[in-house]
Amino acid sequence: MKQTILVTGGTGFIGSHTTVELQQAGYKVVVVDNLSNSNEKVLDGIEKITGIRPAFEKVDLRDKEATEKVFEKYPDIEGIIHFAASKAVGESVQKPLLYYHNNIISLVNLLELMPKYNVKGIIFSSSCTVYGQPKPENLPVTEQAPHQKATSPYGNTKEVNEQIILDDINSGAPIKSIVLRYFNPIGAHPSALIGELPNGVPNNLIPFVTQTAIGVREQLTIFGNDYNTPDGTCIRDYIYVVDLAKAHVAAMARVLDKETEPIEYFNIGTGKGNSTLEIVEAFERATGVKLNWKYGPRREGDIEKIWGDCSHANEVLGWKADTPLDDVMRSAWNWQLKLREDGVM
Ligand code: UD1
Repeated sequence: MKQTILVTGGTGFIGSHTTVELQQAGYKVVVVDNLSNSNEKVLDGIEKITGIRPAFEKVDLRDKEATEKVFEKYPDIEGIIHFAASKAVGESVQKPLLYYHNNIISLVNLLELMPKYNVKGIIFSSSCTVYGQPKPENLPVTEQAPHQKATSPYGNTKEVNEQIILDDINSGAPIKSIVLRYFNPIGAHPSALIGELPNGVPNNLIPFVTQTAIGVREQLTIFGNDYNTPDGTCIRDYIYVVDLAKAHVAAMARVLDKETEPIEYFNIGTGKGNSTLEIVEAFERATGVKLNWKYGPRREGDIEKIWGDCSHANEVLGWKADTPLDDVMRSAWNWQLKLREDGVM
């Protein structure tokens, strides 16, 4: 058995897939989640896939006392993967203080507790949002690309949290960190036992696509077809959530077992951009399901195009996102079918 890892937000979309990969790689996992945007039943899915039910504590990380009790109860925790955060861009504009409070206090509490409980490494979920809209000459973006002022409180919390970790480490804190900047995570576990389950009307593209395909939503609107891209729709780097989860396993092994710089940054994507229209076409091709969609106006705050240069992660972490897009689309669809079968939606 490898080390014990605390996965915060472990019942969420990326957290649950990462818990599966960690357990399959031999790590012991303690999941913490306040269940504000997820369900404890996710643990059943994780258990079915891996044969192991991770330890679970329903804790809000803003509550420092409750968080400290987790470290007291599991003194063998050596690493943290910190996913727990609010993540809806639009909501963050409406409720900025909720976002600052939740996303920032949680991280500060963890960083304060790490040295006391001898926790050596923390992997932080950051986002390509820190780059804003890169200049054309900076595409694909590398980790060295200049950051731009965030366009939402959500984006700002990612930038500020990166800075908090850096400042803490620069002050001599006896910890190490790897910051992973994700591009657009999509898809679901091939077992269809875990996946993405947004509350209410989805903001993100893929849940909207699959919910439209199954008839929960009437029509998908592609936001804008007059962008400066080959087909006029926005371009993103869509990465399969299972590939993304595996990047965390590689990062955890590096932060805990190797002599490395105290803080490192990696872009986690495929290195390839796809337009919104290409995603719709890939979904139809891969699943054989026809999608009802139309073009609509641009969505405020959307950036035109971004995709990542992920060669640093490929070389240093020995990791690569290699699942074909059509397989990813099928996984998302199978998950939606499973939700229907289970009467969830
Ligand atoms: C956004 C955030 C990202 C965050 C992620 C979390 C920005 C710039 N990006 O990503 O930091 O981590 O949400 O959820 O703030 N689209 C449609 N129709 C739809 C939905 C989406 O055309 O109904 C298009 C969008 O215009 C966009 C693409 O699909 O071009 C992807 O959108 P989405 O899934 O919402 O992700 P991002 O906005 O890229």
